Amino acid sequence: MSIVKVDKINKKFGKKQILHDVSFEINEGEILGFIGPNGAGKTTTIKLMLGLQSIDSGSVTINGYDLKKDFEKAIKGVGGIIESPDMYMYLSGRQNLKLIANMYKGITKKDIEDLIKLVGLEKRIDDKVSKYSLGMRQRLGIAAALISKPNVLILDEPTNGLDPQGILEIRELIKKLAKENKMAIMISSHNLSELENFITDACIIQNGKIVSNSSIKKLKSLDVSKYRFKLNKTRGIKTLFGNNNIEVIDDETFEIEVEKKDINSILKKLISNDFEIYSLYKVSMSLEEAFIKETGGNVIE
Ligand SMILES: Nc1ncnc2c1ncn2[C@@H]1O[C@H](COP(=O)(O)OP(=O)(O)OP(=O)(O)O)[C@@H](O)[C@H]1O
Ligand SMILES: [Mg+2]
Repeated sequence: MSIVKVDKINKKFGKKQILHDVSFEINEGEILGFIGPNGAGKTTTIKLMLGLQSIDSGSVTINGYDLKKDFEKAIKGVGGIIESPDMYMYLSGRQNLKLIANMYKGITKKDIEDLIKLVGLEKRIDDKVSKYSLGMRQRLGIAAALISKPNVLILDEPTNGLDPQGILEIRELIKKLAKENKMAIMISSHNLSELENFITDACIIQNGKIVSNSSIKKLKSLDVSKYRFKLNKTRGIKTLFGNNNIEVIDDETFEIEVEKKDINSILKKLISNDFEIYSLYKVSMSLEEAFIKETGGNVIE
């Protein structure tokens, strides 16, 4: 069942149309990567989904509640961080969490302790936030977003500015939330390769339009693949195949993007032109390459 449904939302700032019929869904346990270059409309979409800006047309439904018509019920299910978490720097992590907990009913001390453990901040939770690293602030931000016990978590560029270790930690935390807590998670980034190993679905936005929306499994199994050939020489290869989808790697190696059914004819052509073939194997495409294929190129910055 889809927990979040974004249906043809549009948004204008002044005369400028920023979002055009943006649609996608997020299901339980899914981690949707929301990917697009700077200025594509990621933050704007997220602000609309969190009710922080008005939607011109279209709808956002969360846990079956329409964000416009049933705002309180819809928004109850969502926790989010936009750009970077807002915290009181002169208070400790725990004090910050307590302040937020006060805004909701029925959040117990134990709930807060559990959250602190969940995000792995037990050792530093009583330090002032001003002493936290960026990664620790992000984790505190995620804890804060989870206080109201939402089943949807929306994070806008949560790994921005983090070092590789910090990125890894946030990634593990997000995976845990999706898997163990069965949350529906959306995470935006301008960097596809940073997300590709842990998201389950990817939605690409460009100039305010969704240009691709697919599960990672499906993208990775696209028909067209790259094959790497090792030969006695590569001179003349580009002319032989008319330069199409070919990349010459070195004197003995080239790669070509083709469908499986075309491999035989490539082999025949090579043999009849006196090339000696040493080996041939399939190179798996990166997600970025798969997207470029699916959308016809120039999608990712
Ligand atoms: N309040 C606003 N008033 C006018 N234009 C805005 C406003 N907020 C965003 N925009 C414009 O909307 C477009 C999308 O911006 P948005 O912040 O959603 O992009 P983004 O995908 O989050 O980019 P980034 O990767 O840089 O965070 C940009 O052209 C931006 O200038
Ligand atoms: Mg943004």
